[in-house]
Amino acid sequence: MRVLVIGANGKVGRHIAYKLKEAHYTPVAMVRSTEQIPQFEEKGIATVLGNLEKDFESAFYNIDAVIFAAGSGPDTGADKTILIDQEGAIKAIERAKHFGVQRFVMLSSMAADRPESGPSGLRHYLYAKHRADEYLKQSGLSYTIVRPGRLTNEEGTGRVQLQEHMNNFGEIPREDAAEAIVRLLSIPKAENKSYDLISGEQSIQELLL
Ligand SMILES: NC(=O)c1ccc[n+]([C@@H]2O[C@H](COP(=O)([O-])OP(=O)(O)OC[C@H]3O[C@@H](n4cnc5c(N)ncnc54)[C@H](OP(=O)(O)O)[C@@H]3O)[C@@H](O)[C@H]2O)c1
Repeated sequence: MRVLVIGANGKVGRHIAYKLKEAHYTPVAMVRSTEQIPQFEEKGIATVLGNLEKDFESAFYNIDAVIFAAGSGPDTGADKTILIDQEGAIKAIERAKHFGVQRFVMLSSMAADRPESGPSGLRHYLYAKHRADEYLKQSGLSYTIVRPGRLTNEEGTGRVQLQEHMNNFGEIPREDAAEAIVRLLSIPKAENKSYDLISGEQSIQELLL
């Protein structure tokens, strides 16, 4: 299965691309510049150039599934959050529909399902993620939405807590979030479902068994 990773050069996106390869998928890493290509080519991972603010349609040729892991990051203004996290994601969903993609996995954020509850400084970000998630749910695509808590750069533990709705907030290593996302890609029970995700006790390899 050829899986397009949008935001592959990101801290989670890189883990996703590498873990897809380990799990015998065929990842295609969408990156924004040529300098970002060698790190993937060295590992035998195909790349494609694409920018969510421009045309990236050619990235979708021969793609079976999409993982959207892009984001404008904390150092840009609300305008970029809307352009990338919301409109970029919506454009990717539209392209996925157009090209008949079988599965779309969205890396969202904890609290994106209830953006009004977030701290005021984060609310525009949570609303952007929320709108992208809602657009995906209505798209007719087969989807899975993953809403992780605060992402850390700690080494992965292979153990998480995954629930459709969680009342407690928490954090999770980026490596574990990536592994869970790759795992959910192949689980029929995860189809058309949304999950909160933090560190926990359950083995990622046994999720939803
Ligand atoms: N930080 C947290 O605690 C937290 C919690 C929950 C969810 N999230 C979400 O998790 C996602 C990934 O997080 P992360 O830590 O991996 O972020 P990251 O390292 O900043 O990665 C984001 C990626 O998006 C790419 N991107 C930005 N604008 C783009 C554009 N116009 N076209 C194509 N790609 C573009 C970046 O490309 P370049 O590499 O070229 O810059 C980068 O590779 C984000 O959406 C974030 O909102 C974060």
